Amino acid sequence: MIGIYFSGTGNTKFCVERFLQYYGDTIDVFPVEEERAVTALCDATEILFGYPVYYSNLPKIVRDFITKNSSLFAGKKIYIIATMGLFSGDGAGCGARLMRRCHAEILGGLHVKMPDCISDEKALKRTSEQNRKIIQDADKKLKDAAESLKAGKPVREGLGLGSHAAGLLGQRLWFYTKTQKYSSRLKIDPGKCIGCGKCMSLCPMENITIREQKALPHAKCTMCYRCVNRCPVQAITLLGKRVYEQSSVEKYL
Ligand SMILES: Cc1cc2nc3c(=O)[nH]c(=O)nc-3n(C[C@H](O)[C@H](O)[C@H](O)COP(=O)(O)O)c2cc1C
Ligand code: SF4
Ligand code: SF4
Repeated sequence: MIGIYFSGTGNTKFCVERFLQYYGDTIDVFPVEEERAVTALCDATEILFGYPVYYSNLPKIVRDFITKNSSLFAGKKIYIIATMGLFSGDGAGCGARLMRRCHAEILGGLHVKMPDCISDEKALKRTSEQNRKIIQDADKKLKDAAESLKAGKPVREGLGLGSHAAGLLGQRLWFYTKTQKYSSRLKIDPGKCIGCGKCMSLCPMENITIREQKALPHAKCTMCYRCVNRCPVQAITLLGKRVYEQSSVEKYL
């Protein structure tokens, strides 16, 4: 089994790698923003497919990866890991429905609660201790789920009708438009930016350029929060007005 994933701030990458480790496979993982993910999708039969949940839906970059490569999903056996800060309803189901339409077989689905990555909103902020505990619990869940899959009894979280209704009514219906288009809402404070270029090289969408030693955002942001969490001078915001605390999974390991 190989891993194909999208991870803005590292949570999903951590989960995919840990799952494969517990599953007992070599850890071959490919981020969707890199061309080699397409080659890996072509060659593999069993795929662990991971993504974070945004507004109880798929990040636009993930939806685009699946639809652009729809013909390559036919006949693949897919196990889905959906990571989230709190609640998604049918996070795994969103990807499963789309991949089934591409004639993939869905082996199972796993929902993993991880630290929240939205660093410019106060809601859902937890202490480092709480986040460390969340990761420990996630690690145990990943180990148990990998063992269940090995034993031929895969977990099927988020794939049923009840979860579908919970995802739809709990969030997706109200925030549906947020994930249907790339966003133009990223803001970079030119007074703070030191032109280091970190955001530009990290962005999976090539949504930031540097001009006259200042970073400039464009309108193709998948809202992954990678640049917001990694800017050395906290010059970048997306949903909120200021950065409260930059988060990264490594801080809590
Ligand atoms: C734009 C956006 C929307 C999000 N919406 C949800 C949500 O609906 N439910 C939830 O539990 N977490 C939500 N989250 C939190 C992320 O799903 C969670 O932190 C995830 O583990 C991040 O994974 P990553 O580090 O691999 O990018 C959202 C995060 C972002 C950036
Ligand atoms: S990471 Fe921050 S400081 Fe560096 S170029 Fe981007 S916005 Fe400017
Ligand atoms: S601009 Fe920032 S938040 Fe948007 S896709 Fe790029 S790295 Fe992610």
